[in-house]
Amino acid sequence: MNMRFEPARGLSGGLRAPADKSISHRAAVLGAMASEPVHIQGYLHAADTSSTLEAVRALGALVEVRDGEIVVRGTGLREAREPEEPIDVGNAGTLLRLLPGWLAAQDGRSFTLDGDESIRRRPVDRIVEPLRQMGAKLKARSGRLPPLEIRGARLRSISYELKVASAQVKSCVLLAALAADGATTVGEPARSRDHTERMLLGAGVGIHRNGRHVTVVNTDELLLGSVTVPGDASSAAFLVAAGVLVPGSRLLISDVGVNWTRTGFLRILRRMRGIVLGDLEDETGELSPSEPVSDLDVAHGALEGTVVEPEEVPLAIDELPLVALLGCYAEGETVVRGAQELRVKESDRVAGVVEGLRGLGADIEATEDGFAVRGTGGLLGGAIEARGDHRLAMMGAVAGLASREGVEVRGMEAAAVSYPGFVEDLATLAA
Ligand code: S3P
Repeated sequence: MNMRFEPARGLSGGLRAPADKSISHRAAVLGAMASEPVHIQGYLHAADTSSTLEAVRALGALVEVRDGEIVVRGTGLREAREPEEPIDVGNAGTLLRLLPGWLAAQDGRSFTLDGDESIRRRPVDRIVEPLRQMGAKLKARSGRLPPLEIRGARLRSISYELKVASAQVKSCVLLAALAADGATTVGEPARSRDHTERMLLGAGVGIHRNGRHVTVVNTDELLLGSVTVPGDASSAAFLVAAGVLVPGSRLLISDVGVNWTRTGFLRILRRMRGIVLGDLEDETGELSPSEPVSDLDVAHGALEGTVVEPEEVPLAIDELPLVALLGCYAEGETVVRGAQELRVKESDRVAGVVEGLRGLGADIEATEDGFAVRGTGGLLGGAIEARGDHRLAMMGAVAGLASREGVEVRGMEAAAVSYPGFVEDLATLAA
């Protein structure tokens, strides 16, 4: 579906950010692993998180969708049912990487995970390696791509250093560790989102963090009770960027999750002198089970270029396309380093951002590990390909509102995987 976004005069008003995708996935998967019913308030109803509900149903969990909450009645840690058909993860990379952690512990049972065309290009060798070390048997196409076959086993605990700072891989190992034979430690090269750790702590699991290492103690059951899903900082970031870029804007976005590991984009934006007020969580020493929320008060203003360093990348990974867009409007140069991971997202996001924004008039180039943009006072407009990638589709829409002549987004339907109401929300703010 192609859709045009015309230059906006100023965005105003307030709305609630859509529910967090990462936390919704985790709540449904941990709910399926729990033995007692789990009530999830504010679950995200989008394509990716619907794939998760279908997947856990196929594995034997009962999922009841009610008004404003869902109830998951799980099978327990070691009792997932072996489905006859492959599990379809759709477009959801998080599901593809998290679920095998649980399935690896299903002794003697086999599972296959597959998904859409884009998921078949997402690497899984990063989870195959640690799960094999723990004792599960796994087979991926060409050794690294889905479909992924998993044969569960009695797992050994391990110490594992991640090669990439990936919350998905970290979470996969932590989930497998729950049913292993002792304490497992995972180290990451840079801090990444820690929703899994917080939720496990809330579920009574012995887990602690020491710098970039997390240790989890095996357990017999998870006691989750209820989970409230906050607004998604990554989805909200698209509204924030629109508010900052469109002259005359003043917006209030409420109930946004402000966990420190998710607010890298807001810190980068503030460094660029963007006006965004809100009570962001400080870097946490001790692990806490809570997911803090805040309202974000956003206003249009001039921006300055900045450099995003590698250790900031995992904390803003899904918002880096927006950093490129902001860079087009900033004074001076904006550079993102250490972001090779963008090449293996729902699309090659370095190519998608660089070619897409250049087509709208940007002065931007790809570098070995990211991109560099020179601010040119804004974008003219034109057309941009979403490449089946929700974040590129939404970036194109925001670019359109801030452009001089408007932008046609080719493939706007991609937004449905994380933020189905995005176009309507932009229209409400622009009205
Ligand atoms: C996610 C982690 C990130 C992020 C993705 C969601 C998660 O991926 O890009 O959208 O929920 O754990 P990686 O772990 O591959 O960096």
